Amino acid sequence: MKDPHSFANFPEVKVVHLDWNAFVDFTQRKIKATATWTLSGQSEHLILDKNGLRILSVRDQDGNLLPFEEHDADSIRGGWIDIQMTKDVTQVSIDYETSDRAGALQWLEAPQTMGKRHPILFTQSQAILARTWIPCMDSPSIRFTYKATVRVPLGTIALMSASNPQKKSPDGTYTFEMKQPIPSYLMALAVGDFEFMEISDRAGVYAEPDMLESAAREFSDLEKMIAAAESLYGPYLWERYDLLVMPPSFPFGGMENPRLTFVTPTIIAGDKSLTSLVAHELAHSWSGNLVTNATWNDFWLNEGFTVYFELRIMEQLYGPEYAEMLAQLSFNELQQALNTLPENETILKADLKGKNPDDAVGPIAYEKGYFFLRTVERKVGRRYFDQFLRAYFDEHKFQSVTTEDFLSYLRKRLLKRKDWRELEIDRWIYEPGLPENVSKPLSTRFSVVESAVTALLTMKVLPVTKHWSAHEYIYFLQQLSGRANKEILARLDSAFQFTRSPNVEILFAWLRLCIEQDYTQATPVLENFLINTGRRKFVLPLYKQLIERGQKEMALQIFQKAGTNYHPITYSSVKKLFE
Ligand code: BES
Ligand code: ZN
Repeated sequence: MKDPHSFANFPEVKVVHLDWNAFVDFTQRKIKATATWTLSGQSEHLILDKNGLRILSVRDQDGNLLPFEEHDADSIRGGWIDIQMTKDVTQVSIDYETSDRAGALQWLEAPQTMGKRHPILFTQSQAILARTWIPCMDSPSIRFTYKATVRVPLGTIALMSASNPQKKSPDGTYTFEMKQPIPSYLMALAVGDFEFMEISDRAGVYAEPDMLESAAREFSDLEKMIAAAESLYGPYLWERYDLLVMPPSFPFGGMENPRLTFVTPTIIAGDKSLTSLVAHELAHSWSGNLVTNATWNDFWLNEGFTVYFELRIMEQLYGPEYAEMLAQLSFNELQQALNTLPENETILKADLKGKNPDDAVGPIAYEKGYFFLRTVERKVGRRYFDQFLRAYFDEHKFQSVTTEDFLSYLRKRLLKRKDWRELEIDRWIYEPGLPENVSKPLSTRFSVVESAVTALLTMKVLPVTKHWSAHEYIYFLQQLSGRANKEILARLDSAFQFTRSPNVEILFAWLRLCIEQDYTQATPVLENFLINTGRRKFVLPLYKQLIERGQKEMALQIFQKAGTNYHPITYSSVKKLFE
């Protein structure tokens, strides 16, 4: 099976274990490391992916130098290193340094952190950025175990997607072990002044000291989430589950690094209203980390399953009405994507050859994937669907799966020929748009919100929001898009203080309305938000909208100030808007 985003020469030879020895040099902004790969299979070459690494030397298990060649291919995939081997080579050690353009890494100076005393470094490897800090077989179809020793400045702690320290070491050296085999995109490292607080025996949270308590409070349902997930789809197989609260420049909401999910601080709203994101990352411990998409074309297997699983966890914790609100928000996002994306980008099984897999991160893999699974569930009944999923995770654990592997399992284990036909499975997976048989959400709590929107627009009555959760506010603001005006926004703002909302999803929906209606009172907050937050899901649409509204000049000015705070992933996405 070929992965269009990797140059590595599997299955000829495979890497099975990594020993990683690294020094994190904040003054030079480089990781200097030795990566020792244990191999399985014999070959005269070992080809590894790399992007921008400076390779210093390559040796075999006895310390003999091995000849190698370096190749550059393109700006998306980078290139590869081709190492010449003899048949008796079982281990290859590569001495190397990262470059200052490493796409996975963000280096923050002490003043850019909350505590202002120590610098921070963190990685984001998914989808194909692990190769910018480790030479590796950078395909989700290849798994390996790892051990690491990492040296960092005194006063900081190093954390990885592995067994982790809970205290700072006196000499700045930390050791790690990941016993379960993982794909390269789950390699992760964070270094900074982080402290730990326990939530349960097997779960806890790391954060900068000033943030730790509020984080632990926000995530206090973590153990309940893990228990709910296990009751649905089987035991949690990664031992501990901890969270690391990232700096606000973290480019994603969350990243499911095994044993240590990285989360954006923007979900700490004070009222647990955005913790479904944690349920999502936790769910990846099954869908994604245990059973992994074989290539990025099969990305919907990771994300669609995870959204489905996330909503099931939320339903167990907070009830069906709550989960149905999330489903409705998800449906709206899907509708919007279907209305704006070119047809060929609305197909579940993606074709990303020649493209950056990062561009596939969006509502098709997530929301269309979710609604496909939901539709199958409604057809066969929950009891059978759950049994099926449990067996699917169990029988494919620590393996990679293609869309076709999944479909054949679905056909064999769950669907009768008639179900298959009626569900129009092939249409769901291989054709654009949304089949009519989709199981649509119906949120009664949102019906109330819709009436409130109508009342506001026709009779100018403000909504009665006493029993509203954050989700009702979000839905309310989304429904006003294209239908409000400045005067309405001003009234809403003085009644509900949206411009000062501590809930980032509410604030985001609000700022979109403000840009749409030229409600300039919110502009300073918008500017502040864009400078201080690097989460791409928020930042990118806001810039886009400013440009669409003829505010390119202002957008560019903000970007010039904000850009230095962004992680390379967000930076390069935003930069494209101005090219
Ligand atoms: N694994 C993804 C993030 C990701 C995907 C990073 C592809 C790079 C490439 C993570 O699980 C995720 O989906 N995060 C979402 C949150 C979620 C609740 C939808 C995010 O960051 O917004
Ligand atoms: Zn996800």
